[in-house]
Amino acid sequence: MALIGVFDSGVGGLSILDEALRQLPEHDYIYLADSANAPYGEKSSEWIAQRSLSICKHLVDVGCDAIVVACNTATAKAIAHIRNELPNTPMVGVEPGIKPAAMRSENGIVGVLATQATLNSDKFNALLATLPNHCRFIKQAGAGLVPLIESGHANSEDTLELLAKYLEPIQDAGADTLVLGCTHYPFLRKAIRKLLGDSITLIDTSEAVIRQLKRQLENQGVKTPDKSSDHHGSVHFVSSKDELKLLAMAQELMHSDLESHAVDAALLGSLQ
Ligand code: DGL
Repeated sequence: MALIGVFDSGVGGLSILDEALRQLPEHDYIYLADSANAPYGEKSSEWIAQRSLSICKHLVDVGCDAIVVACNTATAKAIAHIRNELPNTPMVGVEPGIKPAAMRSENGIVGVLATQATLNSDKFNALLATLPNHCRFIKQAGAGLVPLIESGHANSEDTLELLAKYLEPIQDAGADTLVLGCTHYPFLRKAIRKLLGDSITLIDTSEAVIRQLKRQLENQGVKTPDKSSDHHGSVHFVSSKDELKLLAMAQELMHSDLESHAVDAALLGSLQ
């Protein structure tokens, strides 16, 4: 069994933790939400790299065997730096699923909703450059959406209004596929469906990210117990802002049955 650290600027990475608990429920998890500093998407590259590294170092110090950087923005801006500084810790990042989207799209028109920092990053643009150019990507930054989700308003009128503005150019271009390029955005599925209907394909990469985590753990010799074992590990929620609110949002946003895990919550102290 392993202790796995999952971190995001806030509650977005809960969409990744949810999938981790579905595929790998036997492990213990620390979910760290840096909500005091969300959104990361409008911060400088240097700030994101430094803060993400401090958080990952903290997760290693408290005993994590592996880390999931459950934030597209931190992955884009910081994962190379973190891997350099923590070479012995298996590290899995999250990237917008533009490759699976290009494969799934029938008309070759794909919307990508992500933070400005992700869309501007070298990592994202390098990934984009590897894709066949028969596919057209309509890139849209979702400024303002993360704070609405952080404050529990994923389905509010304000969110619908802002989303409608961002989805308009994607809809006008005729996209048949939309990449949810920020881990907060899977929590907007309902609102997106309300605006765009059921025919658009929504792509998020949480399933593939956790399959990758599983491979990395196996490479480290961490065995996945056979399916007959119904041991469920613990989940320790840590927030830099409000741990009880984080716990309440996890209970509200996640599909996993948190009651089958030992769950607790704590406030994050200051990091170096
Ligand atoms: N959940 C994040 C991401 O996947 C971060 C968004 C933000 O803090 O701006 O990009």
